[in-house]
Amino acid sequence: MSQKVTKAIFPVAGLGTRFLPATKSVPKEIMTLVDRPLIQYAIDEARAAGITEFIFVTSRGKGALEDYFDSAPVLEEALRDKGKDKLLDTLLDTNMESGAIAYIRQHKALGLGHAIWCARRLIGDEPFAVMLPDDVIAAQKPCLQQMVEAYAECGGNMVAAMEVAPEQTSSYGVLDVARPAQNRIVDVKGMVEKPPAGTAPSNLAVIGRYILSPNVLKNLDEVKQGTGGEIQLTDAIASEIEQDRKVYGYQFDGRRFDCGSKSGFLQATVSFGLERAELRDDLKAYLKELAPTLD
Ligand code: UTP
Repeated sequence: MSQKVTKAIFPVAGLGTRFLPATKSVPKEIMTLVDRPLIQYAIDEARAAGITEFIFVTSRGKGALEDYFDSAPVLEEALRDKGKDKLLDTLLDTNMESGAIAYIRQHKALGLGHAIWCARRLIGDEPFAVMLPDDVIAAQKPCLQQMVEAYAECGGNMVAAMEVAPEQTSSYGVLDVARPAQNRIVDVKGMVEKPPAGTAPSNLAVIGRYILSPNVLKNLDEVKQGTGGEIQLTDAIASEIEQDRKVYGYQFDGRRFDCGSKSGFLQATVSFGLERAELRDDLKAYLKELAPTLD
């Protein structure tokens, strides 16, 4: 039986340049899908998976994120006075228990691997999850919970994986697979970050959910700048395989939206809007009205 996973790192120190000018003053992770910021979806998914310690790797200008998880006494009082109990509950749900969140700074956006490395002293010697809030996953059972259950059986390191079209592999970390999936789990024999077109070892792409052994943090001590001049997490995980430790890909059940891109964000907005009972009819009517005009 593997050690329980109770800590998760949320790297949120990126520059979010694809959403400029919005991200000049609003952290990408605070942008809202319907009425909840991206980060709230990630936190809810982590809680469902049994995570109790939340580590944010932030940077200058991300203060709105810290405020979001703090209590908001003036707002709470106003809602209480007006008897808006349902809204008050929604608000209180976003407060985090004192001490549950730790914030650590990445002083320069040197890449995802570097962001994770910045949190090394808060992880110590236990397995940990990594969640990228701009990957939002709609699933019956939350994706990280699926992974934690699979990890309890097989241990090692585990990355969330999904099939992508061959022309898209150059945008992802891609798995080199030792054998076909069994119970959604593939044995990984290699990983490549953003392989040039036509060179990908498979069409199984890594997306933003990981369960990693603390060895990966040691590997990050050694990892040099890789693809795009950044310190790549993929390289530190791939070096686990070189050291004869296990890496598994987990083909999760669910639909992932790339909310780090404008198109993915818009698709997620429509899909999550359609899931909401109070919005569904209006939104559906509008989409139907729009559909014939789209060609
Ligand atoms: P992205 O590759 O989406 O980069 O990072 P980005 O800076 O957020 O956005 P663009 O590409 O400029 O539009 C994936 C995740 O890794 C974090 C980001 O905050 C995001 O959650 N990250 C990336 C860091 O924390 N530090 C880094 O140096 C790079």
